[in-house]
Amino acid sequence: MTNRTPKRSVTALAAAGAALVPLLLVLAARPGRGQDPPAAGQRSRIGREWTVESHDRTNFPLVGKHRTLSCRECHVDLVFEGTPTDCEYCHWIRRQDDRYSLRLGTRCSDCHTPQSWKKVDPALWSHAVNVGFPLVGAHRTLDCEACHGSAGFSARPTDCYSCHAADYQRATEPNHVQSGFSHDCTICHGPAPTSWAAGAFDHPFPIRSGRHAGFACTDCHPTSDFRVFNCLGCHEQAQTTSRHDEVPGFSYSSPACYACHPQGTAGD
Ligand code: HEC
Ligand code: HEC
Ligand code: HEC
Ligand code: HEC
Ligand code: HEC
Ligand code: HEC
Ligand code: HEC
Ligand code: HEC
Ligand code: HEC
Repeated sequence: MTNRTPKRSVTALAAAGAALVPLLLVLAARPGRGQDPPAAGQRSRIGREWTVESHDRTNFPLVGKHRTLSCRECHVDLVFEGTPTDCEYCHWIRRQDDRYSLRLGTRCSDCHTPQSWKKVDPALWSHAVNVGFPLVGAHRTLDCEACHGSAGFSARPTDCYSCHAADYQRATEPNHVQSGFSHDCTICHGPAPTSWAAGAFDHPFPIRSGRHAGFACTDCHPTSDFRVFNCLGCHEQAQTTSRHDEVPGFSYSSPACYACHPQGTAGD
């Protein structure tokens, strides 16, 4: 924006506005809605040509919701000079609009535009970048209060178990406590799960259908480190080896079985 003095800008705008077809009612035509009418001097200085469009040439173009307001909502008693341009002046000092009472910061424009308070542009502020904890999966649509309560935005623990210990304790299919599952839920549930529900867990080896359905996790994972697996407990050596007489490169070890049979079928 240029640094025109207000007076010159009004003159210039009045001239420019005269060329436009006024889309909104000009000021003089607005009923006072119970307020005092504008002083005659003010009215004539502004002229009949002032529209929302001519306002675009001030230091404060009317965008978003501001375009739909009546002049009086910002120009109290229709005083035009000295109207503040800082969001926080109108939306905090005058109106206390901030639902979070400045706990997120005082400069509203760091995060908001006049389009909507709800739609915070991630380029301006995001939980991922500014806080370091992305709100993904099931967390994406939660209200801030779900994690922060109503008291404010103090730091919260980031590991899953601090907030989801009760879910871990109640899980019976499979029983997480008895199985000694890791407290890092992301190992099995992924980094951004949308629910804990059955089927949400994408196991790399088919264990819900085919020959290997219905076994206990511990039949293949003898320890709590689930990267370790064992095929040999069920596939005995003599019988297995005899089935591979014709197979070059066969060896009787679990990683070898899995490498040749990633789907647990003879055909893969
Ligand atoms: C969302 C708030 C808002 C609304 C709505 C609004 N204005 Fe403004 N207006 C401002 C602000 C802020 C300034 C100060 C801009 C600046 O400092 O350059 C301003 C400046 C002006 C000025 C220049 C004042 C000066 O110092 O010379 C005029 C004239 C004006 N507005 C007229 C209007 C009219 C007429 C309407 C209705 C069609 C209107 N405004 C609606 C916020 C608003
Ligand atoms: C650090 C960034 C930041 C600052 C600074 C900030 N806000 Fe917000 N504000 C947010 C975020 C993020 C939300 C939540 C948006 C959501 O729930 O989608 C929010 C929500 C709001 C809401 C509630 C929207 C709704 O309907 O739930 C209002 C109103 C609001 N802010 C007003 C303000 C005002 C006024 C200021 C300045 C005094 C301000 N904010 C400063 C980030 C900020
Ligand atoms: C001169 C006063 C003034 C200034 C400066 C101002 N606003 Fe507003 N704004 C208003 C008024 C008055 C409303 C209408 C309030 C209402 O009806 O809720 C409004 C409405 C809004 C709304 C829509 C609220 C809703 O209910 O949807 C948003 C968002 C908004 N302003 C953001 C901003 C931001 C961001 C800034 C700074 C860049 C800003 N405003 C600067 C006066 C101002
Ligand atoms: C799923 C839970 C969750 C939700 C939902 C959530 N947050 Fe957070 N928030 C956290 C965690 C965890 C931290 C701490 C991150 C860290 O320290 O690395 C945090 C930290 C913050 C901080 C920094 C606090 C400080 O003092 O360091 C702010 C600000 C914040 N969140 C704002 C919000 C806003 C605004 C919303 C709603 C749009 C929101 N959060 C929704 C979990 C959440
Ligand atoms: C700061 C607290 C917090 C942290 C940390 C946290 N969550 Fe959440 N999470 C919540 C809240 C609150 C909900 C919504 C209430 C609920 O469903 O438990 C939720 C919901 C969920 C849900 C949806 C549950 C359902 O059935 O709808 C899943 C899945 C989830 N979180 C996974 C995780 C994972 C994985 C981690 C670790 C990366 C994690 N959460 C870290 C607070 C947290
Ligand atoms: C070693 C893998 C593993 C780890 C680690 C793990 N889970 Fe699970 N979880 C599973 C499997 C497998 C299921 C069954 C879901 C399926 O069949 O897709 C499950 C299901 C669940 C269920 C639903 C079970 C029921 O009885 O309704 C909840 C709740 C759950 N997990 C919470 C957690 C939480 C919270 C954590 C972290 C603190 C966690 N899990 C860590 C493997 C794991
Ligand atoms: C029939 C054998 C078998 C059964 C039964 C089985 N798994 Fe697996 N599991 C495997 C194989 C094979 C892999 C693949 C290992 C790899 O890709 O490195 C695997 C991988 C995993 C991984 C991934 C570890 C990693 O590397 O990130 C997890 C977690 C896991 N299984 C959990 C479970 C859970 C929980 C159960 C019980 C619900 C279960 N498994 C039942 C064979 C089995
Ligand atoms: C808990 C017991 C058990 C474990 C552990 C086990 N299997 Fe099996 N597997 C079976 C049974 C039962 C059959 C069906 C009978 C048969 O063909 O021997 C079978 C069949 C197979 C077949 C032949 C399938 C077909 O289409 O005919 C292959 C290949 C196989 N398993 C590979 C593996 C691999 C690889 C592992 C390790 C990741 C493994 N199995 C671990 C029980 C197991
Ligand atoms: C170098 C690759 C390779 C390795 C290693 C390997 N297999 Fe096989 N396996 C095959 C091939 C190829 C066949 C099919 C042979 C045929 O049809 O004559 C087969 C057949 C089988 C069959 C018989 C399927 C049927 O219906 O007859 C089973 C069971 C089996 N393998 C399990 C295993 C187990 C358990 C291991 C690990 C101890 C293993 N395999 C290691 C390649 C391999």
